[in-house]
Amino acid sequence: MEALLPAGRTVGVIGAGVMGQTILRGLIDRGLLARDSAWAVTKTRASGEKVAGALGIRVAQDYNALVADADILLLCVKPAQAEKVMAALRNAGLHPETLIVSILAGVSIERLESLLGTENPVVRAMPNTPCVVGEGMTVICGGRAATPEHLTLARHIFSPVGKCLTVEESYFDAITALSGSGPAYMYLILEALADAGVRVGLPRDLALTLVSQTMLGAARMVQQTGRHPAALRDDVTTPAGCTISGLLMLEDGKIRSVLARAVEEATRTVAQVGRAK
Ligand SMILES: NC(=O)c1ccc[n+]([C@@H]2O[C@H](COP(=O)([O-])OP(=O)(O)OC[C@H]3O[C@@H](n4cnc5c(N)ncnc54)[C@H](OP(=O)(O)O)[C@@H]3O)[C@@H](O)[C@H]2O)c1
Repeated sequence: MEALLPAGRTVGVIGAGVMGQTILRGLIDRGLLARDSAWAVTKTRASGEKVAGALGIRVAQDYNALVADADILLLCVKPAQAEKVMAALRNAGLHPETLIVSILAGVSIERLESLLGTENPVVRAMPNTPCVVGEGMTVICGGRAATPEHLTLARHIFSPVGKCLTVEESYFDAITALSGSGPAYMYLILEALADAGVRVGLPRDLALTLVSQTMLGAARMVQQTGRHPAALRDDVTTPAGCTISGLLMLEDGKIRSVLARAVEEATRTVAQVGRAK
């Protein structure tokens, strides 16, 4: 695969937590980014040492001297840190052509650009944690100064760790609630179904294996066949069989409206998170 950047150009990750490290690992492991072309920032020295040991890259707490030479800066701090980090970047003499890529949930492009106060190209992204296993789902959108080339560059950052799509920013809160938070919903459903297996007499580890592989297989069926989930569900549902009995119990428990209300509430919350200082 082609390198993300020409030799000698650098990517800085501000906030090397779960997501920051995952994205860096995806790029480094696939040979898209040389270790000496990457650096990262943590708040505390203790976590910085762990990240440096795990990824074999330079990790700093004071990044003032590193910013000016970076070609791409990936912001992976919590949304509440947005104001502080943007001010630090501006004061550190950010190069006007450096691409800023933010994964901060709920923080709009308009807010990022206004906090930054420069004309730098900005791309907003929303990945999810399955990026850790190369099965992430990321969406991106560009700000005022972002060109199609900047969006292509941003796609190259997230494609090594899963799927990446360009979407309108107006979808971001809903997408954050659906695929950003989505893995947590899936884990809850997975755990509940494994419990159900235990209830009908299966050992827990066997139940968990059966359920997780079934969830994976069902998702792949939807992706690879392109068929509607309802049509695939009908294939499993024999007249007077056990599947229709189970499905009717799920409908009695209002599973559809519970899931819809969960995503609706998460969408409302994400808008508030992004506005919080
Ligand atoms: N987790 C998800 O599923 C997910 C999905 C999509 C998007 N996001 C977004 O990704 C961002 C990061 O989430 P995360 O789960 O990766 O968080 P995290 O694991 O808590 O990582 C945050 C990182 O930021 C560092 N940090 C804190 N304050 C800083 C500062 N002022 N300057 C520089 N670095 C600082 C922390 O350092 P220390 O370790 O030393 O404190 C840590 O390395 C959030 O904005 C979130 O909205 C998360």
